[in-house]
Amino acid sequence: MNSLADDLAAAIGAEHVLADPDLTAGYTTDWTRRYRGDADCVARPGTTAQVAEVVRACARHHVPIVPQGGNTGLVGGSVPNRGGVLLSTRRLQRLDPVDTLAAQVSAGAGVTIAGLQAHARAAGLEYGISLASRDSATVGGTIATNAGGLHTIRYGGTRAQLLGVEAVLADGSVVSRLGGVRADNTGYDLAQLLAGSEGTLGVITAARLRLWPAEPHVVTVLAGVDGIEAALALLAEIRPRAPGVRAAEYFEAAGLTLVREHTGLPAPLPRAYPAYLLAEVAGPADQAERLADLPLLGDAAVAMDLTGSAALWAYRERHTEAISAAGVPHKLDIAVPLTRLAALRGALGATVRGASAPSGGAPLMIVFGHIGVGNLHVNVLGPDPADQAVDEAVLGLAAAYGGSISAEHGIGRAKARILRLNRSPQEIAAMRAIKAGLDPAGLLNPGVLFS
Ligand code: FAD
Ligand code: MLT
Ligand code: ZN
Repeated sequence: MNSLADDLAAAIGAEHVLADPDLTAGYTTDWTRRYRGDADCVARPGTTAQVAEVVRACARHHVPIVPQGGNTGLVGGSVPNRGGVLLSTRRLQRLDPVDTLAAQVSAGAGVTIAGLQAHARAAGLEYGISLASRDSATVGGTIATNAGGLHTIRYGGTRAQLLGVEAVLADGSVVSRLGGVRADNTGYDLAQLLAGSEGTLGVITAARLRLWPAEPHVVTVLAGVDGIEAALALLAEIRPRAPGVRAAEYFEAAGLTLVREHTGLPAPLPRAYPAYLLAEVAGPADQAERLADLPLLGDAAVAMDLTGSAALWAYRERHTEAISAAGVPHKLDIAVPLTRLAALRGALGATVRGASAPSGGAPLMIVFGHIGVGNLHVNVLGPDPADQAVDEAVLGLAAAYGGSISAEHGIGRAKARILRLNRSPQEIAAMRAIKAGLDPAGLLNPGVLFS
């Protein structure tokens, strides 16, 4: 039998099989720098048929496969643990003309979200997913993680955009449903099964995606508030007046300080506040007037054009990079019912302090997130990256409040050991049965989702 390297080179061209550690390094460390592992090689197929060849070669040689898109995932799922082939989808750049009648488009797995957004906008439509990693995060990766993001409150997560997929299964067979038929109740929905599967059930090579009408009138408001309860109260005032709310984001003074230190941005408002609500409303031209007399808005900053809006969004969107510039964070992505959000926020400080080893000094906790859907990102700097205590304490707290240990980032390698906090033994058994049925040899992203 040929070596795996020979088989891969024959399938996709030797220039697309990278083994030199200098070339593979950027693929084998995750965005947070908390997770890394060696790959035997990186394979960069350029077509669906080549992806199938790579998967078949790996199956023949019993070598695991780690699918990777933009490598912006935050739970360690996009990098190998121990060896295997890292299958990069970035060359899968198909981007079909937009079907404006159906408001749909087919896109390759390697197309970035920014690329897809620009393509949709050129046709007078919008893609419903927007996230700060848009320049690197891919169509395939966002489906595989069922990414949420900044507009989830209005359009839902990636699952809600997904009408069909093309994917290569573990045996190298290709399943494809990109026709965009909306009314179709024909058995199991493989596209929805692959959404959130984190590379464990198949390699997504393309998708059929729903688009939304473009919104020419957008108003962005950044208001200072006393804390999370006040932010929710302000949101409750905004929603009935401006039904086009498409973002409701929250951050606090500690995060703003880091962002300003990292970026050099000026203070956003005339005075400092303990916390901030950033709301974006998109719809009829008169929405700004409808918000103008809201007493809770205080000395809020309001933007009605793209430049002004981007300036306000920077305070929220640049949290992730500012935190990573300060250290390797423990990133915990939790959600609870809105009625419990303030109580959960109140309990977080003691939980984080209690779980952080005293030797590391006082932990720095940065809380921000998609408050409109009850999703908080709890970032902790200080504890050793290898120490899981603070992760388990915060995720245990979310579960105790009836919430989710993964609102939008996925389970990855980071939370595989504690999936049981959110899923019953019966649910995990059913999930394992699906995995065993589609990937009996366990070659697709081992160690992700299940420990
Ligand atoms: P990768 O990181 O490459 O992979 C993620 C997972 O998907 C891995 O398990 C991988 O194996 C699998 N995978 C990738 N491609 C495929 C494929 N074609 N077929 C099968 N499996 C595949 N996430 C949010 O949900 N909301 C946010 O608002 C958000 N903001 C972010 C902001 C920043 C600055 C950063 C760095 C990250 C952010 N993220 C956010 C996290 C990340 O961008 C998302 O998880 C995104 O969906 C990952 O896409 P990717 O292409 O980078 O996937
Ligand atoms: C965000 O909402 O900005 C992302 O999910 C990234 C993060 O949690 O850091
Ligand atoms: Zn987020």
